[in-house]
Amino acid sequence: MNIIVIYKSKYGTTKQYAEWIAEELGCEAAEASRIKIDDMESCDVIVYGGGLYAECIDGIALINKNYDRIKDKNIIVFSVGLTDPGFKKYYDTVAEKNFSSEVRDNIQIFNLPGKMIIDELSLPHRGALKALRAFLKAKPSLSPDMQMLLDLCGESNDFVDKNAIGPIIKAVRDIEQV
Ligand SMILES: Cc1cc2nc3c(=O)[nH]c(=O)nc-3n(C[C@H](O)[C@H](O)[C@H](O)COP(=O)(O)O)c2cc1C
Repeated sequence: MNIIVIYKSKYGTTKQYAEWIAEELGCEAAEASRIKIDDMESCDVIVYGGGLYAECIDGIALINKNYDRIKDKNIIVFSVGLTDPGFKKYYDTVAEKNFSSEVRDNIQIFNLPGKMIIDELSLPHRGALKALRAFLKAKPSLSPDMQMLLDLCGESNDFVDKNAIGPIIKAVRDIEQV
């Protein structure tokens, strides 16, 4: 089976996961900008990973824009974000924001725990987080998920866990066995 792992990563977290997944599957991990539609069309399984930024999966247009030409492939998407992957309601919203219902019904989506080191962030990203913090702090009260967001965007955190790729590897193995 022809498998490709594609990633888009601003600070290296998604790249690290993509490399671990590719190593486990014995295939190539390629940065999204190097990928052409022909590369995806020649594969049976496409694994795409992108960091989460304001609930958008980085570079996901590569999948969405080319969807009509790759919809017969097995498509697996993984996001990498700071929000706890166990937070189902949040990730349901992320899926709705990033994909049409047709695409959602035809792909498998996984969410992996990310990392953010404040000192490594670009100035625009630091500014965006500062503005988000100010916006949240100005609210008279916060729901638990908004409080979590406020806590997460104000400090460095590293939740990266190699074991988190397990379900993705299993999903590919299951496809191979069909
Ligand atoms: C400006 C900014 C916005 C972010 N937005 C989200 C978000 O909406 N949800 C989330 O869970 N994590 C969010 N994060 C955390 C990133 O998803 C996390 O740092 C991830 O590991 C980045 O992956 P990358 O290094 O592969 O780009 C954000 C980080 C920054 C700097």
